[in-house]
Amino acid sequence: TRYNLLNPRGSSGTIPQGLGGGTVNEPNTVLFDIGWEVAKKVGGIYTVLKSKAPVTVETFKSSYALIGPYNPETAATEFESLEPGPLSSPIIENMLAKYGIQIHFGKWLIESHPKVFLIDLKSSMHKLSEWRFDLMAGFEQPGDQECNESIVFGYQVALLLKEFSETYKNDKYIAHFHEWQSSVSLILLKRWRLRMATIFTTHATLLGRYLSAGGVDLYNQMHHLNIDSEASKRGIYHRHWIEKQSAHDAHVFTTVSEITAFEAEHILQRKCDVILPNGLKLDKFTALHEFQNLHQKNKQVIQEFVRGHFYGHYDFDLDNTLYFFTAGRNEYFNKGVDMFLDALAGLNKLLQQAGSPITIVAFIIMPSKTNNYNVESLKGQSYLRDTRRTCNSIVEAMGERLFEATSKGQIISPEQLITPEDLVMLKRRILNLKQKSSLPPIVTHNMVDDVNDPILNHIRRIKLFNAHEDRVKIIYHPEFLNSTNPLIPLDYTDFVRGTHLGIFVSYYEPYGYTPCECTALGVPSVTSNLTGFANFMKRGVEDPDSKGIYIVDRRYKSPQESVDQLTQYLWKFCQLDRRQRIELRNHTEKLSELLDWKNLGKFYTTARSLALERAFPIQPRSTSLKVSSEQTEILLTSPPISPSTSLSENNFISKPPNVSTLSEMMSSSGIGTSVNNTQLKPTNSSTTANPVPSVKLSSPLVS
Ligand code: UDP
Ligand code: G6P
Ligand code: GLC
Repeated sequence: TRYNLLNPRGSSGTIPQGLGGGTVNEPNTVLFDIGWEVAKKVGGIYTVLKSKAPVTVETFKSSYALIGPYNPETAATEFESLEPGPLSSPIIENMLAKYGIQIHFGKWLIESHPKVFLIDLKSSMHKLSEWRFDLMAGFEQPGDQECNESIVFGYQVALLLKEFSETYKNDKYIAHFHEWQSSVSLILLKRWRLRMATIFTTHATLLGRYLSAGGVDLYNQMHHLNIDSEASKRGIYHRHWIEKQSAHDAHVFTTVSEITAFEAEHILQRKCDVILPNGLKLDKFTALHEFQNLHQKNKQVIQEFVRGHFYGHYDFDLDNTLYFFTAGRNEYFNKGVDMFLDALAGLNKLLQQAGSPITIVAFIIMPSKTNNYNVESLKGQSYLRDTRRTCNSIVEAMGERLFEATSKGQIISPEQLITPEDLVMLKRRILNLKQKSSLPPIVTHNMVDDVNDPILNHIRRIKLFNAHEDRVKIIYHPEFLNSTNPLIPLDYTDFVRGTHLGIFVSYYEPYGYTPCECTALGVPSVTSNLTGFANFMKRGVEDPDSKGIYIVDRRYKSPQESVDQLTQYLWKFCQLDRRQRIELRNHTEKLSELLDWKNLGKFYTTARSLALERAFPIQPRSTSLKVSSEQTEILLTSPPISPSTSLSENNFISKPPNVSTLSEMMSSSGIGTSVNNTQLKPTNSSTTANPVPSVKLSSPLVS
């Protein structure tokens, strides 16, 4: 009988014998995912938590919940409050009574409706100095705002988990922390010696992101850097310390790709135990042509926008226009926007020289600080709508006249069909268009810092100004998309469907959901070999180019060579005819199976099993975490490290087993075989080096 610990009041099947979702007489296991992006969209971590929720709920049922900070603005649309069930209700009440911590319990309004505990940071902000001192006594300077909020959230979460584990002692808890903002409590759980299995997933390293954004040749130079002092120089030491300490204190340390595992080993000085590649929740269509129809349907919305945006300059053939785009967090260099623009400039020249009839409209969808949409962009759309309305009403009147005449048995002449008044109306619309002298806008919004925006400055340098002779037009939309947008009324997913090619040649990209989503939607994409996604696809897919997964070499080529390679990819893509594009989309879409959480969720199961084994060793011979009691003592009582005493010097952390490489994991998990029908490389089933010790769990963890 399943016991609904985390379920709201009134849920069925409650037999109060423990908190977990295990069956009677079996160990009960409760899983918490903790993240700053729970019910709050910032970037890819939100996508991880949201898309993974259905498979996790399916496995853990009511023994699963997420914990995040309460944010009134996002909660208004993402969260629905529920009355807590009989067992979690005293916990929430105690948190308020004992610590004054206010918790909102309810469901996250996404598929599978996972339960969430959203903690109000404000209710504990007054404890900041005390908690910061407790966590970081000896640190010279106070941390920044972001760091302070993470500390407060960390103590709140740790107290909540403590309350759970001390109230319901028969349950086994797994706390999975995503990224440093949510992981301070992991450090505390270890200090407080709470018996709880912990997993830390770093979705990037803070310093890695900073170094690469600042122009450091990260992958070649990181071995030569003094990591802690580099973090101090950039004013991010406190955050870096939290990240590093979390990596060390976790029972299981994971990241999202091999490239980030490599980086983390140097920057955080712990080898990662398991790689957790990011997946998606796939809603497959039964008929293949369905997604092709959606491409056409959404492309028409993009076309409508383009007509309006280029009003007065709309002199190209939409039937011969391709839509390229890049999207994501606004990190000019890390996300490869520089290379994207240089390659477009190169493509523009090639198309011009060849006298090509093709036009490219290239979108940049990256949020930046703005003061709303700009008037020119709005005007374009309103002219277009007005013109469409005028044309529709003329057509309607023409239809009436045609019908009237035909029903009387008369043939109507063209002059009778369209009246002089109609022609005047049409001429007025055309005159409006001709009066426009300025070029179509590049950016759709009023930028707060137009002059210093690196993307705009790059566009100025390469002089791609949407001129008549340019075959490549650029539209920079500095805001994420949604269907209520007055310019492009499409949700991001629908927008992607309507395009032809996504371009994400990042320099720093631990995984990269954007190309992953393109693949799932059957849209070809270009990435770089520095992205986790490309690493993943390269291992599993034979001849990725032919399946719409183009990978630019940014690791071993010079920047100019990489730009040239990208330009060639784009140029070749422009040579495809419609039929070939349709076929390519079919090939791309077939790869999506590889990215389904149904397959990739297995790595999470491995990480959880390993964490449970280390936290609750079944036999004394357990070898996973070889920390002697003396070492444990040092670990638990030693003061936090400071920049001068890095963790590498304190040799008290036991070495976890070697990281399972992606290929090993793929072969041992059967991913390689389960997707054979999508023409993936056969995997070597004999590769079983360092299999993660499998723990037999008699709990709902094992599906
Ligand atoms: N995204 C979005 N709306 C947009 C553009 C992007 O929701 O208009 C999402 C996209 O679907 C993806 C996320 O932003 O899931 C970006 O994640 P990614 O892992 O690519 O990069 P991150 O921002 O985490 O570095
Ligand atoms: C889909 C639709 C076709 C349409 C095609 C356009 O495949 O099912 O009806 O012709 O898209 O493809 P294109 O690459 O030219 O946008
Ligand atoms: C981070 C990374 C991104 C990754 C995402 C989810 O934000 O920058 O590459 O896809 O996390 O893991």
